Amino acid sequence: AQTPAADPYRPVYHFTAPKNWINDANGLIYTNGQYQLFYQYNPFSADPGHLSWGHATSPDLLRWTPQPVALTEYKNADGSNTMIFSGSAVADKDNTSGLFPAGTTDGLVAFYTGHVERPGVVLRQHQNLATSLDHGLTWQRYAGNPVLDIGSKEFRDPKVFWYAPQQKWVMATVKADRQQVYFYESKNLKNWTFLSRWGRAGDTVREWECPDLFELPVPGGGTRWVLLISAGNPTEQFRGQQYFLGQFDGKVFTPDQPYDEPTYIDYGKDFFAGVTFNDAPDNRRILVGWTNDWAYARDVPTGTEWRGNFAVPRELSLRRTTAGLTLVQQPVPELRKLGKDALNVKNRALKPGPTGYEVPFRGESYDLELTLKPGAAQVLTLNVLQSEAERTTLRYNVARQTLTLDRTGSGNVGFHPLFASTLETAKVPLQNGLLHLRLLVDKSVVEVFAQNGETTLTDLVFPRQHTGRITLTTEGGAAQLTTLRLTDLSQLTVP
Ligand code: FRU
Repeated sequence: AQTPAADPYRPVYHFTAPKNWINDANGLIYTNGQYQLFYQYNPFSADPGHLSWGHATSPDLLRWTPQPVALTEYKNADGSNTMIFSGSAVADKDNTSGLFPAGTTDGLVAFYTGHVERPGVVLRQHQNLATSLDHGLTWQRYAGNPVLDIGSKEFRDPKVFWYAPQQKWVMATVKADRQQVYFYESKNLKNWTFLSRWGRAGDTVREWECPDLFELPVPGGGTRWVLLISAGNPTEQFRGQQYFLGQFDGKVFTPDQPYDEPTYIDYGKDFFAGVTFNDAPDNRRILVGWTNDWAYARDVPTGTEWRGNFAVPRELSLRRTTAGLTLVQQPVPELRKLGKDALNVKNRALKPGPTGYEVPFRGESYDLELTLKPGAAQVLTLNVLQSEAERTTLRYNVARQTLTLDRTGSGNVGFHPLFASTLETAKVPLQNGLLHLRLLVDKSVVEVFAQNGETTLTDLVFPRQHTGRITLTTEGGAAQLTTLRLTDLSQLTVP
């Protein structure tokens, strides 16, 4: 553990690897009473390369125990090198694969993309499996790999899950350069048969990566299948991840609408490659995203010790809103148990003007929840990580009904031309005249959940000053702070 002075950017309650580079979350599965988190990892440095699967385990999705590296890159007989790219893991409870000793009920099978290359030249991306008999601690690569090879250099990120109605395994992968998801089926995890492909909707500009497909209940009855796709966008206003709602019949994904425009999971720049846990208890659907973007991921100024972290795991559900059926994301409730109740404020008038109201708390790692009644105000502004010359600003524009997260003045933004940004959400309508906000602030990460998870915004920030003030101002008229609750997370309490 680092002292704040020694490492001003390492988050307290957001996952980071003890050292070195990380990107996507991989192989997410709940087994043996633990959440298993694997992740794209460079065992040698804080820069991308030598991609392997790092590993950590947790009983509560927040306090992670580092485990040995699970899968490492390897040399092939012809001198080429295979890196372990992103993928998933399943529990093969009935030994459908036949890869475990007879009677084994707790074998795990991981699927990863073998990224085969010679220096500077990609030769292939194909799907491979590995097995574990000790709940994911150690893995054996399957001798019959690859299990799925279509001769492509852009074919990756297998998500495998059990499709109960037809008692079979389904794999979603991407043909990244074609913006398409390819679906396959298997009875034994080793032989895969093509089912269908779907794509070229939403964001069709850049490569599609890290698919996920799962079913969620619809309030009032029925279900929808949710297809997650990560795709950066090379324009100024890029966002990383989108989702599509539809039906899946074990063969074909049929979207609810044409999705001519992307529907974003998160309106900040730094939520990418998010995928969900298989086998989470109580039918929970929990999403873990990498809070970064490839545009500048290599350049973020966290030093040579570590680079990269994950968002707080998010519980997913569907809700009917004015925008239609919407994917709702909430920080997992486990987070509530780890902090210290620091502040409760009720019914404070916010007079218009530049001074506003300063929340009587200073810090850089906390969970802040507030309800605002704009009343006569036209703009509501919340500043966090504020010092004399720096602040990260969240603004609500009453007329436009949008939130904007502005990190142009947040601190060090100069390390990449695309980092400084002001991003606006789609409409966030008031509910009964109220705006509900929850902010997870953690040194270099700011996650915003608006209207109980209907809209989220995630951004990295790198303040150079560390006063950690929180202020609220209004423009155009008086507003009211109805409730405010702050949980200090600078030190995690063990429940
Ligand atoms: C997404 C991604 C995946 C790939 C992995 C490599 O961030 O590009 O498509 O498997 O990262 O690290």
